[in-house]
Amino acid sequence: MVKAVVAGASGGIGQVCLILQPLPPPVGDAEQAANVPRDSQPLSLLLKLCPLVDELALYDVVNTPGVAADLSHVSSNAKVQGYLPADDGAKAAFKDADVIVIPAGIPRKPGMTRDDLFNINAGIVKGLIEVAAEVAPKAFILVISNPVNSTVPISAEVLKAKNVFNPQRLFGVTTLDIVRAETFVAELAGKANPQELTVPVIGGHSGETIVPLFSQIKPSVTIPDDKYDALVNRVQFGGDEVVKAKNGAGSATLSMAYAGYRFAEKLLKAIKGAKGLVEPSYVYLPGVPGGAEIAKKTGTDFFSVPIELGPNGAEKAIDVLGDITDKEKTLLDACLKGLKGNIEKGVTFAHNPP
Ligand code: NAI
Repeated sequence: MVKAVVAGASGGIGQVCLILQPLPPPVGDAEQAANVPRDSQPLSLLLKLCPLVDELALYDVVNTPGVAADLSHVSSNAKVQGYLPADDGAKAAFKDADVIVIPAGIPRKPGMTRDDLFNINAGIVKGLIEVAAEVAPKAFILVISNPVNSTVPISAEVLKAKNVFNPQRLFGVTTLDIVRAETFVAELAGKANPQELTVPVIGGHSGETIVPLFSQIKPSVTIPDDKYDALVNRVQFGGDEVVKAKNGAGSATLSMAYAGYRFAEKLLKAIKGAKGLVEPSYVYLPGVPGGAEIAKKTGTDFFSVPIELGPNGAEKAIDVLGDITDKEKTLLDACLKGLKGNIEKGVTFAHNPP
């Protein structure tokens, strides 16, 4: 039996944050309507369809009874239930979960960086991790809420304080960076199927902390010198394209739901014994086999590298730093400069919340 939880299940990824979004506009007001997110909850739908999930608990501060009722009519295996904060709903939702996916919080608006979300999302993630620590201490936790560079360190500190931190079970979901890199490289190289490419993307999950390693694309693709900087920039700031195009109605939700599902599905398969499954993720390196050596090189404990997944979660951190090019070294230096501050901010918040 596998129980999966989505916390933030009524949002654009997991649908409409009633805390911050305006009420739906009157029928016929097209301009306003374009600015209000529509019901989607695509990640919850994908998990409902997943044959590896037996029980799906949907937790949010709003709307989960409706989302759960709707999804419960889908003729797939998983039993779905919605939970709200009343009557200790978070605890009931998280109780004995195997996998907890957290896209709870606010998304970016045009002009915002992921770090601008810190003040609100840090507290939300901290509260949810406290519940997880109490009622599902062995769960695999997938943090999607931004800024991932800081919310994962917050999660680790909360779990440590409760004596239940297992670094092999805590993942910052950076898969969307890999998904974007695959797509943009395939476009440039004229490849029909982006999923036939493996493009390692390491570092963090925000702007310059995102480091694509185009020298290690498999099968090999040569990026022409005159296209290199623009391609790096598109992978690092691809999220801004979506935020701008949505014009105030949030950030990536559909591509993120795909990416979050891709990571969750790989993990679920690996837990059940499938071999050879690798996906980059932002983890606490010293606690993952092979990670301490990488952390010595980067000088940061939290960092995303390709992770081999298995029954214990993160079975091995794969060192891809040995073969990087000079251009990639320059990207890595810029990454580490920003990332260290993001990590410190998270750790400080966890110990001294305002
Ligand atoms: P959204 O605003 O549409 O949905 C967030 C949901 O979280 C809302 O339904 C809201 O009610 C809920 N929520 C707020 N406080 C909560 C709490 N204490 N407990 C449970 N639920 C709570 O936002 P969207 O677009 O779904 O994005 C969610 C987060 O994911 C944002 O922080 C965004 O930046 C992040 N994100 C991360 C990506 C990644 O690659 N890791 C990519 C895209 C977005």
